[in-house]
Amino acid sequence: MTKKNITLGLLGLGTVGGGLWDLIARNQGLVANRSDVSLSIKRVLVRDPAKPRAVQVPANVLTTNPADVLDDPEIDIVVELMGGVEPAHEYIVRALKAGKNVVTANKAVLATHGADVFEAAAAKNLQVGFEASVAGGIPLIRALASGLIANRIDDLVGILNGTTNFILTRMQEDRMAYDGALRIAQERGYAEPDPTLDVNGTDAAHKLTILAELVFQTRASVTDLRIEGIESLTLADCDAAKRLGYIVKLLAVAQRGTAADGSRTDELDLRVHPAFIRLTHPLANVRNEFNAIWLKGDAVGEMLFYGKGAGAEPTASAVLADIIEVARNPKAPNIWNPAKSVAHVDYDSPSRYYLRFPIYDRPGVIGFIATELGRHGVSISHAHADLVPLAAGAAKPAKGDALGEVQVVADATPEKPLREALAVIGASPLLSGKPIAIRIFD
Ligand code: NAP
Ligand code: HSE
Repeated sequence: MTKKNITLGLLGLGTVGGGLWDLIARNQGLVANRSDVSLSIKRVLVRDPAKPRAVQVPANVLTTNPADVLDDPEIDIVVELMGGVEPAHEYIVRALKAGKNVVTANKAVLATHGADVFEAAAAKNLQVGFEASVAGGIPLIRALASGLIANRIDDLVGILNGTTNFILTRMQEDRMAYDGALRIAQERGYAEPDPTLDVNGTDAAHKLTILAELVFQTRASVTDLRIEGIESLTLADCDAAKRLGYIVKLLAVAQRGTAADGSRTDELDLRVHPAFIRLTHPLANVRNEFNAIWLKGDAVGEMLFYGKGAGAEPTASAVLADIIEVARNPKAPNIWNPAKSVAHVDYDSPSRYYLRFPIYDRPGVIGFIATELGRHGVSISHAHADLVPLAAGAAKPAKGDALGEVQVVADATPEKPLREALAVIGASPLLSGKPIAIRIFD
């Protein structure tokens, strides 16, 4: 077999870039034996060349000038691992216009500018590999685009963010506080450079729009999705989940609507939110930074993909696989086939809910909550009330009221009337804070 010598230019040498540098150094021989590809990294763009790094890189390889990567005629593939939308998007398009294939792990760019990126690639008959953009090391993109191409997929549910899954695991297994768990996730390189994107659900939403485009051939904007993060979750919610036989996970859900006769419609429900999932569900045992994607194809039936969704080496594994694929088949058509339609994302699938109301322990408060829920057509299957001990040093609530909490399990309801009921209840002076609603995923 004649070896192909491929020269890479990297944009970024942080968690994933460093992981890729190490993995190429370690498995270069193995990869060359399995493929006809031999790799070398010529230049690496960074912000600060003097910064201490986990990997040893010769000083003349690092640069702060993007043109050293994007305009170098010897560089065959540009690997974008910088993160953020700009200037990453601009550099990807510049690389394509300069005739270079691109590999990226950047879901934020693809979710917001995917059409533009793939148009630039198509104009030059070039490839953009993006396996690492969703679910880290799990080879999901290729499985959806080729292995499962013969299936109509109506339902896909994923744990798509490693950072939040790590935080929720530590909260539920060790009763670790949210902030401490987030700090560890950051130290281990799971979190985005701006971790707000992880905890507020945006990162999972970026990934979900990419999957929706592949699975449903329809383009959705992140702004169309219902997105809730994990910032408002407390250990009390985790305890309630356990008491009821569930575990809390941040889910990303893509479903077609269901008509009255049970047939599936072209309406889409795309959402990211915490959910109570029953302990026997295949996603319940997905712990720490692992991701998993459950889906149902009309021919293949149920499938579960599972593996590490964040971290240097699992992500580098997907990036390197893309590099080899692009190097071997530089003129193959792109996996991202332009969407045929714009998603109609307004299906409101009914669900059971766990509700938490922080209250002042005054006469009539429980009756008020039950009445308002009933008035909006939300029926209660289970209720639980507790007094909440004041945190050390916390100011006493007004009028000497004790603080309490009412926890309710609501029967299946669409989200809209429930949100209307919560708005009314939340505005009452009987409440000491915002009500929380978490879907129950049976
Ligand atoms: P990171 O650790 O923050 O690394 C970013 C790198 O890009 C750093 O080397 C930084 O330079 C460089 N950089 C950033 N902005 C730059 C600019 N304007 N000009 C020049 N260099 C710039 O980020 P990461 O965790 O590796 O993530 C990289 C990408 O992979 C992101 O798109 C992320 O969403 C995606 N991803 C990450 C993971 C994960 O587990 N971390 C998993 C899947 C996908 P300095 O080193 O000089 O600061
Ligand atoms: N911050 C992301 C996560 C990295 O935690 O899942 C992987 O995309």
